[in-house]
Amino acid sequence: MFDAIQAAPADAILGLMEAFKNDANSDKVNLTVGVYKDETGGTPVLESVKVAEAKLLEGESSKGYLPIGGLGEFCDLTQDLYFGSGHEVVSSGRAATFQTPGGTGALRVAADFIHQNFPKASIWCSTPTWPNHPKVFKAAAVNVENYPYFDADSHGVNIDGMLDAIKAAPVGDVICLHACCHNPTGADPSAEQWKQIADAVYDRGLLPFLDFAYLGFGDGIDSDRSALTEFARPGAELLVASSYSKNFGLYRERVGALTVVTAGAASAKTVASQVKATIRTNYSNPPSHGASIVREILVDDALRQQWDGELAEMRERINGMRKLFTQTMAERLPGRDFSFIERQRGMFSYSGLTAEQVDTLREKFSIYIVRDGRINVAGINPGNVGPLCDAISSILGPG
Ligand code: LMR
Repeated sequence: MFDAIQAAPADAILGLMEAFKNDANSDKVNLTVGVYKDETGGTPVLESVKVAEAKLLEGESSKGYLPIGGLGEFCDLTQDLYFGSGHEVVSSGRAATFQTPGGTGALRVAADFIHQNFPKASIWCSTPTWPNHPKVFKAAAVNVENYPYFDADSHGVNIDGMLDAIKAAPVGDVICLHACCHNPTGADPSAEQWKQIADAVYDRGLLPFLDFAYLGFGDGIDSDRSALTEFARPGAELLVASSYSKNFGLYRERVGALTVVTAGAASAKTVASQVKATIRTNYSNPPSHGASIVREILVDDALRQQWDGELAEMRERINGMRKLFTQTMAERLPGRDFSFIERQRGMFSYSGLTAEQVDTLREKFSIYIVRDGRINVAGINPGNVGPLCDAISSILGPG
């Protein structure tokens, strides 16, 4: 039976991670997967995580199963972190949070939940979106539609196109939105645009589903919440997939959460029973280690403060690299404008490079970029920025 099976294509992002690992060139540059890198190109374990892990090792008394929805305290802390403690969504009890294996696990649980409870609903994804979005949703048998998002000329959001699509989407559909720093283009709506988007989504009767893996990578935790709090209006319903891979550096521990915000506390309980039924048939219950680390850090004032500092350091290094890349490109190619890279926030920017140019950079210079042109700015450092900009300049020409 197995001999008849055809090989699956390599994953658009994780496949490149493999190819990079196997590249023998010692000057190779990895701007692919959304993983933070420090000045030396490494992805170290945060100090706050190390301390929390030592405490866990000392205090852990059981390896028994977690509940289906995960560690209750972790879920409560996640609500506080994402909505802000004391937010009405939290205090009213109309939000139910489930610990999931990473943000991708949250997306899949939500997709299964949508398919089971709203079988006619489609999910609308931005053009462009994270390549795994349509794959995860389709794997759960949810139909995927697309709405315009990016304006390549301004390197910003095509707000009119987006609003027109929202106003025309069938009532009862779900719309997947990228909270801060999440869209591969690096373009985020402004606060005013988020208000317009939320107005349009709720006026049309759509269910917003925010994918939110980069809290703290924009301008700081408080201001990065703004898209989410715009949707968390009195009585409004929404779904949120969140992740601790990036902001706690816990990539391989697979720790994330799905939050369902319902109109009132009673439906939160009913919905929770359905989500738990979905989880039970999917992976039964989540792994403990990563969520326990997050809990340990968020309940301890000193550790929380240490983590805040480490997150700020990651954010500031990325912003510094945005500036350095923009300056270096301006020196190499004064005829081309890369200032949008400095203006954007988070790990990602659409470089504007075509798939062919990306292939040439990989083949000739061992520079790895996702084929849609998305670069992970965190892969740039003072040591590789010169050769990187030289290579890009040689491909693009003076313009
Ligand atoms: C990314 O977008 O690079 C990350 O979220 C990793 C992944 O799973 O694709």
